[in-house]
Amino acid sequence: MFHVKKEIDLTSGHEGLIIGVLDQPKKFANVLAKIDDAFAGQLTELVKEGDISAKLKRISKVHSFGKIGSKRIWFVGLGKEKELSFDKLKHAFGRVFTEIKAAKLTEAAVYLDSFVTEKVDHLDAAHAFSEAFTLSTYEFAGYKQKSNEPEKKIEQLTVYCEAADEEEIRASLQVGYIFGKGTNSARTLVNTPGNLLKASDMAEYAREIGKKYNFEVEILDKPEIEKLGMGALLAVNQGSVEPPKMIVLKYQGKEEWTDTIGLVGKGITFDTGGYSIKTKAGIVGMKTDMGGAAAVLGAMEIIGELKPEQNVVAVIPSTDNMISGGAFKPDDVITSMSGKTIEVLNTDAEGRLVLADAISYAKHHGAEYLVDVATLTGGVITALGLHTTGAMTNNEALYEQVLEASIEAGEQMWQLPLFESEKERVRSSRIADLNNSPGREGHAIVAGAFIGEFAEDTPWVHLDIAGAAVTEKAHDLGPAGATGVMTRTLALFVERFEPLK
Ligand code: BES
Ligand code: ZN
Ligand code: ZN
Repeated sequence: MFHVKKEIDLTSGHEGLIIGVLDQPKKFANVLAKIDDAFAGQLTELVKEGDISAKLKRISKVHSFGKIGSKRIWFVGLGKEKELSFDKLKHAFGRVFTEIKAAKLTEAAVYLDSFVTEKVDHLDAAHAFSEAFTLSTYEFAGYKQKSNEPEKKIEQLTVYCEAADEEEIRASLQVGYIFGKGTNSARTLVNTPGNLLKASDMAEYAREIGKKYNFEVEILDKPEIEKLGMGALLAVNQGSVEPPKMIVLKYQGKEEWTDTIGLVGKGITFDTGGYSIKTKAGIVGMKTDMGGAAAVLGAMEIIGELKPEQNVVAVIPSTDNMISGGAFKPDDVITSMSGKTIEVLNTDAEGRLVLADAISYAKHHGAEYLVDVATLTGGVITALGLHTTGAMTNNEALYEQVLEASIEAGEQMWQLPLFESEKERVRSSRIADLNNSPGREGHAIVAGAFIGEFAEDTPWVHLDIAGAAVTEKAHDLGPAGATGVMTRTLALFVERFEPLK
């Protein structure tokens, strides 16, 4: 896919050439000056006239009229040099790839040096390039007789880079590609409809990842789940004809099994709401209620590729939330694996129930730090909108590390508070230890507080991705549909993780 070359040869013919243009200073440097020479200074004129825009993320296509080997040049506006960042560059690359894909190119080349600034070095530029390519050209094949995937795809990208070591550039391109690919795997899982991705399919998928990367795999079937007393997962599964699965992947990246990170992902393959049934409109799209599980699995793929020196246990509770004569009901009291009893006031608040048992099970497997990810509440959409992950924690130092990872990954995150007053609300049942739905006020927070009851003293961060997991509109780094949000954050968090003192 990626070919790295040191020497730039203007005569070599590519279907497209990708070049960065900075707004300030408004000029072509080095290699670009050479190309401009081939155009007898006309490119500089086009920039001056604004026909080639240097504004951030503006793309200008120019025909080369045979003046250089490549047929067309796609200029990528980079804005002011001082303001360009790794993340902005990724988005700018995403834009140009979206256009190149629409132009049905099968091959292109980039002059990477033209994207390098004081703040973004060659290796960052290479990473941004390959990650943006992988993300922005993603397409869910779908099930039309004529697939959604384009007939013509970009199959080769030549990366010219004069000022850096070829091997290092190659390695950075590979890392960007791995992050993109893991995210795309998560997107595909989320985009897959509930009839085609049941708990057993999710388990099978996890098993395959495990095989590929040599993870220890444990898939608990219903009898084992019963034996372990996971009454919360079982209650949610009660209305289903599909058996539940508790999926565990273990990655050992260092000798001793210490400082283990637990990644827990909500894996509801379809959420009808159960007897607290969703509305006709609200139920549509609930195939995406396993977005947390998808992010964890996508992150495990990245971890399997990059092999950080950490130990990770990934836990995914999976079932659908259905209605039948045997389904659980409001007023039921259930007993979770932890022994804590729960009064069910709303069967649509099922995510926190399955996560409760998954958190207990992650601890049972030795997790000393916990991060859970879940499409948990409509409340987080009300609070933070459709693009931001809501975070809650019982440990600020651990949250700092997750936040740092999210910034590096370019995924928006904002913290919501877990005050005692809200913890009290989940403990307010008259007949059980907890209740799963004490009312709609601040319910993203209440859901977090509920899960916190099971994390107990283990440092824990909860990430509510109900808003950010899917998008209605195509964006710089992907089409409408699943975003794969938090896949990259989780993988980076694991990679950079420092145990707390
Ligand atoms: N899966 C939903 C949350 C959700 C809503 C995800 C919208 C994506 C988009 C979750 O299980 C749910 O139904 N939560 C309820 C909780 C309520 C009953 C306390 C909600 O947010 O309305
Ligand atoms: Zn629900
Ligand atoms: Zn749900």
